Amino acid sequence: MCGIVGYIGKRPAVEVLLKGLSRLEYRGYDSTGIALRLETENSEGSKIEIRKSEGKLENVQKLATSLPAQAKNSLCGIGHTRWATHGKPTTQNAHPHRTGHVVLVHNGIIENYQEIKEELLARGHKPASETDSELFGFLVLDEMAKGLGLREAVIVSFRGIIGVCSVVVMSERELGKIIGVRNGTPMVAALDPSGGAILASDAQPILEYTNDVFFMGDGDLVELSEGGAEFFDLTTGLPKKVESTHLDWSIDRIDRGGYPHYMLKEIYEQPTALVDTLNALLDRAKIESFPLAKHRGTELLMAAEELVFVACGSSWHAALLGKYWLEKYARISVSVELASEFRYRDPVLRPGALVIGVSQSGETADTLAVIRAMKKQGVPTLAVVNVRGSPIAREAEGVFFTAAGPEIGVASTKALLTQFLTLLTFAGALSAKRHHEHGKKGSTDPLTDALFKNTLVLPHALTAYLEATDGVAKQAQTIAKSLVDAKGFFFIGRGYSYPVALEGALKLKEIAYVHAEGYAAGELKHGPIAMIDSDMVVVVLAPKDAWRDKTVSNLEEVKARGARIVSIGAPSDSHLRSLSDFWIPLPELEDDALLPFAMTPAVQLLSYEIAVLKGTDIDKPRNLAKSVTVE
Ligand code: AGP
Repeated sequence: MCGIVGYIGKRPAVEVLLKGLSRLEYRGYDSTGIALRLETENSEGSKIEIRKSEGKLENVQKLATSLPAQAKNSLCGIGHTRWATHGKPTTQNAHPHRTGHVVLVHNGIIENYQEIKEELLARGHKPASETDSELFGFLVLDEMAKGLGLREAVIVSFRGIIGVCSVVVMSERELGKIIGVRNGTPMVAALDPSGGAILASDAQPILEYTNDVFFMGDGDLVELSEGGAEFFDLTTGLPKKVESTHLDWSIDRIDRGGYPHYMLKEIYEQPTALVDTLNALLDRAKIESFPLAKHRGTELLMAAEELVFVACGSSWHAALLGKYWLEKYARISVSVELASEFRYRDPVLRPGALVIGVSQSGETADTLAVIRAMKKQGVPTLAVVNVRGSPIAREAEGVFFTAAGPEIGVASTKALLTQFLTLLTFAGALSAKRHHEHGKKGSTDPLTDALFKNTLVLPHALTAYLEATDGVAKQAQTIAKSLVDAKGFFFIGRGYSYPVALEGALKLKEIAYVHAEGYAAGELKHGPIAMIDSDMVVVVLAPKDAWRDKTVSNLEEVKARGARIVSIGAPSDSHLRSLSDFWIPLPELEDDALLPFAMTPAVQLLSYEIAVLKGTDIDKPRNLAKSVTVE
């Protein structure tokens, strides 16, 4: 996920920017860059020097060593780490982007970029990159050409934008200021006690200089100058007050990124985990959809005629969701087995079957036992694991590593979402393979291409969903207060929502110690509905997908018997909302298949907020271990 830093003051800006970007590396990225204000023009005849590169931050750190002295001594600049969605992760597409005297960095998506690009081309502009971000720079350039100042030009340019995106802009015409706008993706500003001001995508880079920060809300604009920071309303352009927050964070709390629990930090790290996992899974230099990196695991997957997943707990939920995607897109036979049961059966496997162990820890005894048994029988084995060097990763014949990073909370969150993503990628890659085998030579499958395009955008959409002011986190907190004493919960869903319902129930059990059952919505009438009364809460996962109407019918069955209803559905689904006592809207995603990536954080946050009220040990729940190495 993109990271932004902006600074103007008395310190060497290049140090502030590079150190700040290194604090933001955890957000995941594939290219990076900085722009520095110069006192006199450089060889390009510009007063803003840019250094950027694909790959890791260290590439720009190396480039910075050869900056001219006046750039090294610059006291003002902006920096960026990019996760590519529009345009490949190349140096050309890296930020900062220069458009004439305007230089900017951008975090998010400009959804109407195609129409804006056509308008700009008609005006004679020639974008140098493939990105949507650069186009915003041309909009500001044109508004300033009409005589507007930088801040006003940014305000007017935003009016033409559809999408969640935060920007930070400089101009050679007004080198004493930096303009930042928060619009969907996070931004924090602060005064530098030694003079000037700083902004960043989160508080981490700022805590180096001060503990007093301004958490900006959506639609807030900040103007940084040597004199400090002034805030404005993006819509009206009028000055506004933003409250300062004093962060008296302990070192431990800083390690938790300022979050009260690792689990909450890891819930919010999920967009980054998705970015890092896509980087780990895919060969992003390739232009086809879901281009899996070449290794033994990919060979095994591509050769398989049938997939047999074995897993436990949340990982089993991931495998179950993977089955829906693999059947839909790849039309391959998939079975999903509880490792603790499978290992003691005498399973019948057809030739061509590939056994896939899914495990965040890579140590789960039952899953490891299955891998060992299958290898003894000469059955090909594959692992999907988050921990490198773990036994399951080492002993399976092939392995795909998820890149969630260390997951401290015992209850799995970001590791689970990266398992989802890995299995979705399997479905996409096998779907593309199937199309090559049966489709027209050289043609691609539009369904798979659309899924891949929407998957690349997913981390941005998930960030906007999680970070929205008064968004899902706030709703979960409010609902938890009303339900903290409920006798029990059912989580119900159909299709993609069914594995998420199982996961939501497991989360509530393991961190809040509240009885909850995940159920296929169509199964309630076959017995469990006898338990429904006014003490029971039913969490209904009913996004606007093929199963929605049937799930709403199940909702009405339990509502008629007195259950309290928490619905999680499309923001436009007023009928669903009217049937519900409590409501958590989902983001509007292009592809229904991706809704589990938003529904899962919603149920994670609901369980988390109930656990907070219960006062349980959320990061280390009683009786649980991060890796279950015993049977
Ligand atoms: C995760 O929230 C659970 N604590 C647990 O069910 C876990 O998913 C299960 O033990 C499997 O662990 P693994 O993914 O490391 O194999």
